[in-house]
Amino acid sequence: MASTTNSPSTLLTLPNFSIQTSTFLPKTSQRSIFKKKKPFNFNSKRVVSCKASNGKQNDADTSNFLNRFDRRDILLGLGGGLYGATSLVRDPFALAVVPIEPDLSSCGESTVDTGKTCMNVPCCPPKLKDSKIIDFEPPLGCKIRYRPAAHLVDRDYLYKFESAMERMKALPVDDPRNFMQQANIHCAYCNGAYSQVGFPDQKLEVHYSWLFFPFHRMYLYFFERILGKLIGDPDFAMPFWNWDSPCGMTMPQIYLDPYSPLYDENRNLEHQPDVLVNLNDGKSFVKPKKKDDFYELTKREQIKSNLYVMYQQMVRSSKTASCFHGAAYLGGCASETDIGCTPEPRGGTIENGAHIAVHKFVGAKNPPYNEDMGNFYSAGRDPLFYAHHGNVDRMWNIWKTLPGKKRRDFDENVWLNSSFLFYDENANMVRVKVRDCLDSKTLGYDYQSVDIPWLRSKPTSRRSRLGVGRGQDQGQDVAARRKSKNRRSFPIVLDKVAVRIEIPRPKKPKKKDDEEVLVLQNIQLDRNDSVQFDVSINDDEDDDNPCKPEDAEFVGSFSNLPHGDNCHSEAMLSTNLYLPLSEALEDLKINPFEDSIVVTLVPKEGEVSIGNIKIDYVC
Ligand code: C2O
Repeated sequence: MASTTNSPSTLLTLPNFSIQTSTFLPKTSQRSIFKKKKPFNFNSKRVVSCKASNGKQNDADTSNFLNRFDRRDILLGLGGGLYGATSLVRDPFALAVVPIEPDLSSCGESTVDTGKTCMNVPCCPPKLKDSKIIDFEPPLGCKIRYRPAAHLVDRDYLYKFESAMERMKALPVDDPRNFMQQANIHCAYCNGAYSQVGFPDQKLEVHYSWLFFPFHRMYLYFFERILGKLIGDPDFAMPFWNWDSPCGMTMPQIYLDPYSPLYDENRNLEHQPDVLVNLNDGKSFVKPKKKDDFYELTKREQIKSNLYVMYQQMVRSSKTASCFHGAAYLGGCASETDIGCTPEPRGGTIENGAHIAVHKFVGAKNPPYNEDMGNFYSAGRDPLFYAHHGNVDRMWNIWKTLPGKKRRDFDENVWLNSSFLFYDENANMVRVKVRDCLDSKTLGYDYQSVDIPWLRSKPTSRRSRLGVGRGQDQGQDVAARRKSKNRRSFPIVLDKVAVRIEIPRPKKPKKKDDEEVLVLQNIQLDRNDSVQFDVSINDDEDDDNPCKPEDAEFVGSFSNLPHGDNCHSEAMLSTNLYLPLSEALEDLKINPFEDSIVVTLVPKEGEVSIGNIKIDYVC
């Protein structure tokens, strides 16, 4: 924990609005009130579009849009005077359904904050020469360039790639295509350089929401176009770091030569040259070897574990758009998770999982900033960032090909019309909308096809593997044993020891396609702390050997990459975690009528407090 927040009581004070967790987490009595209420009508007077002119568009957006989210949560967020939740909403009239756009004229210094110190970083792009912004047009032509896996490229390719990077680094410093200028794009969109168009007080942030995949896709797209232009090869395709496959689970060799323009000295040297990444928490399997590391893995185990992590994040827990992409982030909402917004922005499975783990793995071990990859403000300065995000982007393509009729991108206009600004390969400023980037082939690129071994890594129940309770209904068994001793009160402070708690399942009947989700609400932490905890359900109570990704009991993790927001805002972050359970419940053969589930929280790094845990049908 950073020094500013070392007592549990500090943890429980929300920034900006002082409110008890119980006020907005409905207890049983309040639930019945919600049920009696008519469904909230977004077109009623409570919500006023900030852009009156496009009111019609908003109507269409919202009805569709609302179907995706739990109406009760929406009531809570918007209910200015309802149910005592008043102080949650800073400005109910700002909560219109409008897309997010960066306000170029607002661009100012970015700030990076450690809780103790505050650093200002200039990250704005060079000024527009003729104040012209071009609307993006997808390239004409049908030739597809294939991005290769970084560990498979040959010498000729490497020579080309290195020359392109060298030239990019050698461009004049004020050329928007210069490497540092490119790196700064990430900093500007993450560390509060821009305000949102129409909302001068709200900063724009491209992480922890449904903007994550589109923003990074287009950021890489232009980066790649610039490289191609610099070597006169418009078909040049950047490599991707194939960390989801056994041969790609170490930092790719081509980035490790200190004399190469692909090298970055701000990395964790202990993880070079051939240490395997741990996709669950970003640590290596070799170090650190501390007592409080819950498990240490051999090389083989680490590879297997990573494949299970991938299956968890890509298959088990990402059956819908909002599970995979993250939740909506609307114009007027504060960056990241804003509990005054409905729904609160929140990251998807891959963003919160393997993506952050790899950032942590590569970033240097020097506090407070863990540059370059370990902090968003500096991540773009490491050439490896672009290969890492290539693979993240590849996951978006793969996700859409997996079976399941809900594995589709959102169709809400408010998402499709959100936009970003980039300088293109000709140094013209271009406005790109999310709708422009849904299909990488339309943009002219795809990924080299390689084996996807994690598709076959479905976890199995630890109890059945160990032969415990075979043939019994596991859910009943475990829940019955714990019923009396697991009544705990919230908030839970999670620091060193595992916590086990019994959570009632919803009484309402489950509709056919509903996903049963474990919702950890109001998780509070210092945004500048590295935090990680694992979550499992109905495990077998072995604290020395908690569930791992290969166990069907393991349902996911929470992790935070330290990221400064604004030095003048609170260091505390309040967020929620959604963990889909349906497939785990099936794998564990838990009776659908079982009325509760035992949840185990295993802290691995840092400290958090958790305001409430419930089970719901959303996501
Ligand atoms: Cu914009 Cu991997 O972060």
